[in-house]
This record gives sequence, structure tokens and C-alpha cells, in this order.
Amino acid sequence: MQGVQERLAIDGGPKAVTDGLIRDWPQIDDEDRRMVLASLDGGKHACGPNVEAFAREFAAWNGNRHAVAANSGTAALHMCIAACGCRTGDEVIVPAYSWSSSATCVLHHSCVPVFADIDFDTMNIDVDKIEAAITEKTRAILVVHLHGLPVAMDRVLEIARRRGLKVIEDACQAHGAEYRGRKVGTWGDCAAFSFNQNKCLCAGEGGMFVTNDEAMLTTAKQLWSFGESRTPHQDRDYHVYALGWMYRMSDLVAAFGRSQLKRLDRNLARQRENAARLAAALEGTPGLILPRSFEGALPNWYNYTLRFEPDVLGAKPKEARDRIVKALQAEGVQTSVWQSFPLPEMTIFQAKDGFGHGHPWSSPHARSVDYKMGNFPSARRHCDTHTGMTVPLRYPNGAEAVDRTAQGIRKVMSNLESLS
Ligand SMILES: Cc1ncc(COP(=O)(O)O)c(C=O)c1O
Repeated sequence: MQGVQERLAIDGGPKAVTDGLIRDWPQIDDEDRRMVLASLDGGKHACGPNVEAFAREFAAWNGNRHAVAANSGTAALHMCIAACGCRTGDEVIVPAYSWSSSATCVLHHSCVPVFADIDFDTMNIDVDKIEAAITEKTRAILVVHLHGLPVAMDRVLEIARRRGLKVIEDACQAHGAEYRGRKVGTWGDCAAFSFNQNKCLCAGEGGMFVTNDEAMLTTAKQLWSFGESRTPHQDRDYHVYALGWMYRMSDLVAAFGRSQLKRLDRNLARQRENAARLAAALEGTPGLILPRSFEGALPNWYNYTLRFEPDVLGAKPKEARDRIVKALQAEGVQTSVWQSFPLPEMTIFQAKDGFGHGHPWSSPHARSVDYKMGNFPSARRHCDTHTGMTVPLRYPNGAEAVDRTAQGIRKVMSNLESLS
């Protein structure tokens, strides 16, 4: 087998992926510079023309009726919680594994997250576990299309409609991912996208709230700008009608996002080609569990996440995984362990104190919930066994970057004895 006799880079052998081969993300071109400089020179930095245009263009690209450009994906998620009519003590069902703010956005609105374990195979919320988490307090189900792998939305919607619940899509990692031919962010009642540095559409930082519902748009917009009901260029009355935050996007960021949006389809196409090539090169590698798509799903492959088989990791999976990751990094493979705690294990949830005095869990409107870790075995297993890759699959990286990355992974996987 190729690579078996090769000395690992961590032991002084040659690197599989040579320095400088993997190109950075995102690539900045003259159009980005032109649009950002035009915004800078335009003099309208707050509520400028790019903010409205970015929201309009993103909504058109994704297939939503309305969009509001926010200053982060987390802000857009909070807008979703408010738009769904969640009140103090209401519960929102969230997956036990995701980015922290998929769950803390619920706390931001004095509501209580209730976790459902993930399905180890799809890495997303286990749809079969949703119904058991519903109580008389449940207001919404928040699903996350994690790593750009879409959730089976028809199944989630069937439960939600039958039980009278709203559906929020956290599409922060999933620009362009589709389920049954429809883009994510168009299935639920509302959705949130992120544009931070590493996202498939990067604007530096930023987010987008999307919905087709006029009333939800109105509520989200109020929360977005101080609780006012009119934007500065709509004859502003400075009256606060509801509790609001300041979640507006800057014009410079919107200009950057608009420019990158023009290249998003090309970038996603390359990402999918690269993921298919990597999957073909790694198929059958002993000890590796490759990420799988499933019938009806078209991932964007935001983060190509590998897991290692139990027999490779042994009794102390986390330590063994970390040794493998170090060896991969020494080969020049750009991989790292992302979120390594199941959400309910995090101190904020175990301590059940968001705002002092135990709020929101202590609210008389809240039901008592428990976050026993025994309820989330798949999230735990995922945390201990995964490592992910983003940049090697991103445009302009192509065949050589992918082939060398695959070579580095196979080399380490066929020399695991030398790591222990
Ligand atoms: C799944 C998920 N949800 C929410 C967020 C929050 O997005 P932001 O960092 O733009 O607030 C992120 C990214 O950080 C994410 O990956």
C-alpha cells in the first residue's frame, strides 16, 4: 500500500502537502476592492445603499421573499427567535451539537433551549428524537444544517405542523446546500446565515435573517434596530416600540458581501468537485468514517468532517484522535478539531444561569429542564472522534491540493502504529 513505508512528517519524514500549496480563504479580487472603496467614498456608512442591496440580492439568490442584513449570524438567529413569537420561559428544541450560539440565541430572548441528540451518521439533529423533546412550553424547533449537510426538512416540517410549532433553520454554515432541490433557508418559517471569515460567503463578519412571512419580518426588524419600527431613511420617529438591540450591518461589510456573492456559485461548484474528489480518494481507507450525503440532500461541504473508527481510537478516543490530528497537521493537512463539547455539557447550560439569579431557567414561566449528559451519546461520540477541513476544499484550491491532502491522510492512517 502506498505510504506504508514512508516515514511520517511528525517523525522527520517528508510532508505530503508542501508549504504554500493550499491557498487561503477567501480570495480577494479587484471587484472586492472596487466595491469596498466605493462604499468608503460613498459617505453613507450606516444604513447605506449596500445594506439594502445585499439583503435584496441575497434573498433573490436564496429564494426568500424578505431578508435583513445583520452584523452576525448570531444576531440573525436571535431575530429568528423573536420572529417566532418566543416569550420568556418558552422552549426551543436545538441539536446537542452545533456552534454555541445555535443554543445561546435562545437564552438571548429569555427562552430555554431543550437539546435533542444528534444522529451520528448525519451529524445533524436526530429527527426521531424531536417529538420526545416537545412539551407544552415548546414554541419552535431550531435545526442546524451543520457543516453544510442539510437536515431532512420535510420530516421536521411534518412534526412542526402537526404539533403547531415554528421551524428555524440555522443555515450559518450552509449557503447553497439543498434538500430535495430547494435551498436551505427556504424550508422553515425563518432562517439565519453567517458571513464570518470562514463561511462560504465571507464578508469579514455579518449575518442575514430571511423569511417569507411579512409579520415575522416586522418583528425581526424591530429587534434589529433599537426596537424602532422605521429605519433612518423612513422618516424615523426614534420611538422604541419593543425591546430592541443594535444588529445592523455596516455598509462596508455589505459592499464586501455583495462582491463575494457574485462569485458564490462558482466557489460552491469548486467546493463540491473537491469534496467528490476527496471522497473518492479516501473511500475504503481503514479506520476512517467519511461524511455521507443522503437521498435528497445536496451538501455544500462547508466543513469536510472525518471521524475515526472506535477500533483505531481504542479506550481513550479523544487522546488517540488528538495524536492523529497532530500527525496530519505535521503532514501539512489543514485539519483541526472544531467544537469539541456537546452543547449541554457547556458550563452555561450546566450552571443554568444566563443573566444572574438563574434566569431564564428560574423564571416562573419556565419549566424545569435537565441537561443530563447521558442523553446525548451521539454528540459525545462525535466530539471525541472528529476532525474537519475547510480551506483545502475552497476555491481556488483544486485537484492538486485535494490529492495531496488525501495522500497525507492515507499516509497517517496506514502508519497509526507509529503514533502510539
Ligand atoms: C452553525 C452556526 N451557527 C451560528 C453561527 C454564528 O455565526 P456568527 O459567528 O456570524 O455570529 C455560526 C458561526 O460562527 C455557526 O457555524
